[in-house]
Amino acid sequence: MGNSRLGFINWQLIFYIIALLTATNCQHNVSQELLVISGRQALIPCNVSIPDYEIAISLIMWFKEESETPVYTMDARKGNLRNAVHFVGDQLRPRATFDLSTQPPLLRIDPVKDSDSGVYRCRVDFRWSRTIYHEVKLKVIIPPRRVFIVDQDEETVESSIERLQEGDTIALTCVSVGGKPLPNVTWWKNSKLFDDSSNIVSRDKIRNELVIQSLQRKDDSSSLTCKSSNSNLTLPASSTVIVKMILKPLFVKIISPHHPLSAGQRTQLQCHSYGSKPAAHISWWQGNKELTTSAITAKTDNSTFSKLSFTPSVEDNGSYLSCRADNPVIPNSGLEDGRILDIHYLPQTSLTPETDADLRNLIEGDEIFLKCVTKANPALKRLEWIKDDRVLQKNQSENIVITNATLEIRSLKPKNRGRYHCAAYNDVGRAESNRITLNLKFAPICAQRKQQEFRVMRNSSVTLKCLVHANPFDLKFQWYLKSSANIEEVNGYKENMTLNTLVYTPSKDSDYGVIICQASNSIGVQQVPCVFHLLPVGKPDFLKNCVIFDQSTTGFSVHCQDGYNGGLNQTFHMEVYEVTAMEHRLLANITHDTIPVFGIQTLPSDSTFSVVLYASNNIGRSKSVILRARTASAKQELKDDSGDIEVRLLVAAIAGAVAVVIILTAAGFIISRYYRRQQSQFSGQVEEPHRDELFPLQEVSQLSIPVSTVRTITGFREMVPVVEEVTLLRQTTEADITQTEQRP
Ligand SMILES: *[C@@H]1O[C@H](CO)[C@@H](O)[C@H](O)[C@H]1NC(C)=O
Ligand SMILES: *[C@@H]1O[C@H](CO)[C@@H](O)[C@H](O)[C@H]1NC(C)=O
Ligand SMILES: *[C@@H]1O[C@H](CO)[C@@H](O)[C@H](O)[C@H]1NC(C)=O
Ligand SMILES: *[C@@H]1O[C@H](CO)[C@@H](O)[C@H](O)[C@H]1NC(C)=O
Ligand SMILES: *[C@@H]1O[C@H](CO)[C@@H](O)[C@H](O)[C@H]1NC(C)=O
Ligand SMILES: *[C@@H]1O[C@H](CO)[C@@H](O)[C@H](O)[C@H]1NC(C)=O
Ligand SMILES: *[C@@H]1O[C@H](CO)[C@@H](O)[C@H](O)[C@H]1NC(C)=O
Ligand SMILES: *[C@@H]1O[C@H](CO)[C@@H](O)[C@H](O)[C@H]1NC(C)=O
Ligand SMILES: *[C@@H]1O[C@H](CO)[C@@H](O)[C@H](O)[C@H]1NC(C)=O
Ligand SMILES: *[C@@H]1O[C@H](CO)[C@@H](O)[C@H](O)[C@H]1NC(C)=O
Ligand SMILES: *[C@@H]1O[C@H](CO)[C@@H](O)[C@H](O)[C@H]1NC(C)=O
Ligand SMILES: *[C@@H]1O[C@H](CO)[C@@H](O)[C@H](O)[C@H]1NC(C)=O
Repeated sequence: MGNSRLGFINWQLIFYIIALLTATNCQHNVSQELLVISGRQALIPCNVSIPDYEIAISLIMWFKEESETPVYTMDARKGNLRNAVHFVGDQLRPRATFDLSTQPPLLRIDPVKDSDSGVYRCRVDFRWSRTIYHEVKLKVIIPPRRVFIVDQDEETVESSIERLQEGDTIALTCVSVGGKPLPNVTWWKNSKLFDDSSNIVSRDKIRNELVIQSLQRKDDSSSLTCKSSNSNLTLPASSTVIVKMILKPLFVKIISPHHPLSAGQRTQLQCHSYGSKPAAHISWWQGNKELTTSAITAKTDNSTFSKLSFTPSVEDNGSYLSCRADNPVIPNSGLEDGRILDIHYLPQTSLTPETDADLRNLIEGDEIFLKCVTKANPALKRLEWIKDDRVLQKNQSENIVITNATLEIRSLKPKNRGRYHCAAYNDVGRAESNRITLNLKFAPICAQRKQQEFRVMRNSSVTLKCLVHANPFDLKFQWYLKSSANIEEVNGYKENMTLNTLVYTPSKDSDYGVIICQASNSIGVQQVPCVFHLLPVGKPDFLKNCVIFDQSTTGFSVHCQDGYNGGLNQTFHMEVYEVTAMEHRLLANITHDTIPVFGIQTLPSDSTFSVVLYASNNIGRSKSVILRARTASAKQELKDDSGDIEVRLLVAAIAGAVAVVIILTAAGFIISRYYRRQQSQFSGQVEEPHRDELFPLQEVSQLSIPVSTVRTITGFREMVPVVEEVTLLRQTTEADITQTEQRP
C-alpha cells in the first residue's frame, strides 16, 4: 500500500516534471472545429494514438476553455482502463460519457447545449510516456427559429401573392428570427440565388428585402423563397411565396380557313386565344352585335378554344364576324380577330313590271317592260327569260327586246299573252323568279291556224267548230257561205264562250265552197276569219290509160293510171272473165291498195278474156273499164294479122293527139261511131259500175260517156300474136264525175 502510494507520487512527480519539460512543446493548437446543432449529440474526439497496451493510459481529463477543473475525468491509475473511474463534472452531468472503445475515443455530450460551446482539450496521461493534449473547438449552432415573409405593410404573406400584373413591382421582406450564429438570410427565385443582402435589425432578427421591379409575363408562377441558414448541418429554414399574375390575352385568331360560306348551311368557326390568365373569355360578334348562339368553349390554363356554330343567311353577306378574347379581370384587355363574311347563295330574283300600264288592262299594241331584279353572290352568270316554260329568245322581228335584266315587248300581240318569269344562274345554281301573267284585251283570232278542209257527201251533215281566242269573251259569231259569187249568212250556235258550232248539210253543188266564221268582241272584229273548205266526196274516178302487156300463153299484165279518189282512200280491182259463147265465167278477182297495176299468169291458153277494171272507196265503186284480152295459142306461129290497121290507128292516134284537144268533142263523136261499128274488134269500155249492167257488153256502148280517144297498141314487145288492146285516153275530171253523178 505504502509502496503504491509512493509509486503514485513518484509517477506524479515524473509526470509534472515531464509536463514542465515539455510545457514549451505542448501543443495548445486547435486542430479541429466541431459544429453541432444544439439539442443533438456532440461527439468530441480525443485524437490520441492510443497504444495497444491500454494500460499505458493512466488518466484522461477533459478541460473546457481555460478552466483548470476538468469537466470529465477518467481515472485508470488504479487498475486498468476497463475499471477506470469516470467522473463527470457538474457542467456536463449527466449528459456526458466518454467512450474509449472507438478510435479515436469520443466524448459524447447528449444533448448538447448552447452553453457547451467552447474549446475542449483532452489530456491523456500515460504511465510511462509523456502526457499529450488534443484540442477540439465545439461550436454549438442554434438554427434560426422562424422565417416569414411580410409585405410592405408588414402583413405576413402566405404561400402566394395574387393579381399581379405586368409592370407591377413586388416588394417583400423576409424576416428571420433566432439562430446562432446569426443566419444568412437569402432570397431565391426559382432555385436561383436572387438576393443575399440582409441586414441585422436586432440581436436575433435579420431582414432581407426583396424588390422586383416591372414584373414581366415570365415572372408568372415563379416561386420566391427566403432561406435562413447558419449551417449546412440542417436544412435552412425557409418560406416561399408563388407569384400569381393576371395576364392579358396575347393572341386571338379565327383558325378556321377563310372560305365562302353557303347560306342556310350550318357552319362551324373556331377561334383560339392564348396568353390570358386566367384563360380568356371568348365571345363572338357580328358587327356590333354579340352572337349568343351556341358556342362551345374549351379552356386550359392560359388558352381558350371556342367553336361557333351558326347558319349564315343571305343578309349576312359582307358583315363582319369577329372573335374576341377578353381577360374579364383586366379591363380593356380584349383582342379581336375578324373577317368579312362571304356568303354564297342561289340568286334571288324577282320580276316586276316597269310600266305605267295596268297589267290587267293591257290592250293590243301596248308596250311593256318587265325587269328581273337579281341579287347574287357569287356574281350572276346568266339570265334567262321564260314564257310558259319555254325560253324566250331575243327576236327583233317579234318586237321582243331583251336588254340585260329587262324584257321589253314593244307592241303586245295576243300571242304574247302568257306567264313570264326569269331565271338567274350563278355558281351555286339556278333560281326562278315569281311569275307575271300578261293578259291583254284583243279582238278575236282563230284558234285554228290552218284553214280546215271537210269532205262531205251531199245531203249528209258536217259539224264545223269555230273556236277563237279573245279577250274579253263578249263574243258574237257570224257564219258565211262564200260560194263563187255571193256571200250568204248561215246560222251557227254558241256552244260555250269561245266556241261556236255550225251543223251544215250541203244538198246541192252550190252549197260547197268556203264557209267563213267571224267573231267580234268589244275590242273589235276578227281580222282573219276562220275558214272551212267544204269539198264534196264521192265514188272514185274510173281508171285511165289502161294497157295490157306481157301477154303470154298463161296470162298478161295490166297497167292503169288512177283517177281522183273521191276524197277517200281508194282500192283498185281487176276482174278477169273468160268469154265463151255461152257464158262469162269469173276466173280472177285481184285487188290492190296502192297502185292500179295487175298481173295474172294462171289463165288457159288460146282463150279470150274480158278484163274489168275499177276503183272503189268507202262510198262505192267507180265506173268500170272493160278490156278484151287473149292468151296466145301454144301452137300459133309468130304472125301479125291486123298489124296494118293497128299501125295506122296508132299513127292516127299520135298525129291526132295534137289536134285532138281542139277538136275533142267532134273527134269524140266520130270515133265513138267508128268504135261502135268496130265493137267486135275494140272492147275497151267505160260503164256504170253496176255489176248487173256489166253484161251483155253491147249495152256498154249505150252509155253516154264522152270518149275522147281510143288507140290500140300492138304487142310488139311480144313474140306472141297480138290481141287487141284498148286504152281510154280521156282526162276525166272531178267535175265530169260530179256531173255524171248528178244525172238522175
Ligand atoms: C498550430 O499548429 C500548426 C501546425 O500544426 C502550427 O503551424 C501553428 O503555429 C500552431 N498554432 C499555435 C498557436 O500553436
Ligand atoms: C490525430 O493526430 C494525428 C497526429 O497528430 C493525426 O495524424 C491524425 O490525423 C489525427 N486524427 C484526427 C481524427 O484528427
Ligand atoms: C450566405 O450564404 C450564401 C450562400 O451560401 C453565401 O454565398 C454568402 O456568402 C453567405 N453570406 C454570408 C454573409 O455568410
Ligand atoms: C459544411 O460546410 C463545411 C465548411 O463550410 C464543409 O467543410 C462541409 O463539407 C460542409 N458539409 C456539408 C454536408 O455540406
Ligand atoms: C401556356 O401554358 C402552358 C402550360 O401551362 C405553357 O407551356 C405555355 O408556354 C403557356 N403559353 C403562354 C403563351 O403563356
Ligand atoms: C357579298 O359579299 C362579297 C364579299 O364581301 C361582296 O364582294 C359582294 O359584293 C357581296 N354581295 C352582296 C350582294 O352583298
Ligand atoms: C323570230 O321570230 C320569228 C317569227 O316567230 C321566227 O320565224 C324566227 O325564227 C325568230 N328568230 C329567232 C332568232 O328566234
Ligand atoms: C347592260 O350590260 C352591259 C354590260 O354587261 C352594260 O354595259 C350596259 O350598260 C347594261 N345596260 C343596261 C341598260 O343596264
Ligand atoms: C238530197 O236531198 C234533196 C232534198 O231532200 C233531194 O232533192 C235530193 O235528191 C237529194 N240528193 C241525193 C243525191 O240524195
Ligand atoms: C270552249 O270549248 C272549247 C273546246 O271544248 C275549249 O277549248 C274552250 O276552252 C272552251 N271555252 C270556254 C270559255 O269554256
Ligand atoms: C288512207 O291511206 C293512207 C295511206 O295508206 C292511210 O294512212 C290513211 O289512214 C287512210 N285513210 C283512211 C280513212 O283509211
Ligand atoms: C271482187 O272483189 C271485190 C273486193 O273484194 C268485191 O267487192 C267484188 O264483189 C268481187 N267481184 C266479184 C265478181 O265477186
